[in-house]
Amino acid sequence: ERLRKIAGPLLHWFRASARVLPWRTDPTPYHVWVSEIMLQQTRVEAVKPYYSRFMERLPGIRELAEAQEEELLKLWEGLGYYSRVRNMKKAAEQVLENWGGELPGSAAGLQKLPGIGSYTAGAIASIAFGLPEPAVDGNVLRVISRITASRADIGEASTKKAMEQELRPVLENCGQPGDLNQALMELGATVCLPNGAPCCDSCPVSGLCLAKRQNLTEEIPVKAPK
Ligand code: ADE
Repeated sequence: ERLRKIAGPLLHWFRASARVLPWRTDPTPYHVWVSEIMLQQTRVEAVKPYYSRFMERLPGIRELAEAQEEELLKLWEGLGYYSRVRNMKKAAEQVLENWGGELPGSAAGLQKLPGIGSYTAGAIASIAFGLPEPAVDGNVLRVISRITASRADIGEASTKKAMEQELRPVLENCGQPGDLNQALMELGATVCLPNGAPCCDSCPVSGLCLAKRQNLTEEIPVKAPK
């Protein structure tokens, strides 16, 4: 169906135009984990220097587990949402305790750790382990809603669950689930922008987008006020 058709053009676009980012050059589970947590409420450009400094001081899970709280807060200062880094330290301790020092190699295992929800688990599983797991964040919700002209409320957990299920077979068949997930995130962050701003002229899948065809990019995605 429609989503199956977007995989080829999106992967092609991602390979041709993906930004070179420090965590993309060596996407180990630890690198992907730290970068995805930092990126949750912070823009890519702002994350870069924090990521580099973090990896210099804490190059592995053991160093993170053994770090002083004070040092962690200093490394995180300016990123905000300090519970993110506190949860990472807790998770690193659990990984040493229960997983032999290596992050679990499945989305289900990853989600047992503090601070790792379905998005982060899917990102690590697909980018670092090559598994066909969806990684649906706000950007991906918007991209997929527009391509399929879905008026489902993106604030509803059931909408996200349904989207994850639709993406699974596409990820299984595309051969590069980590790249496809990142292509969807990157399309949402740089091209398929919210509100009045989508850049459909530079979109690699505009020809497959139902919202564009039906002139609904302003109406979709739908987010009901709480
Ligand atoms: N936003 C959050 N994670 C990302 C990733 N891995 N690639 C592009 N944009 C992102």
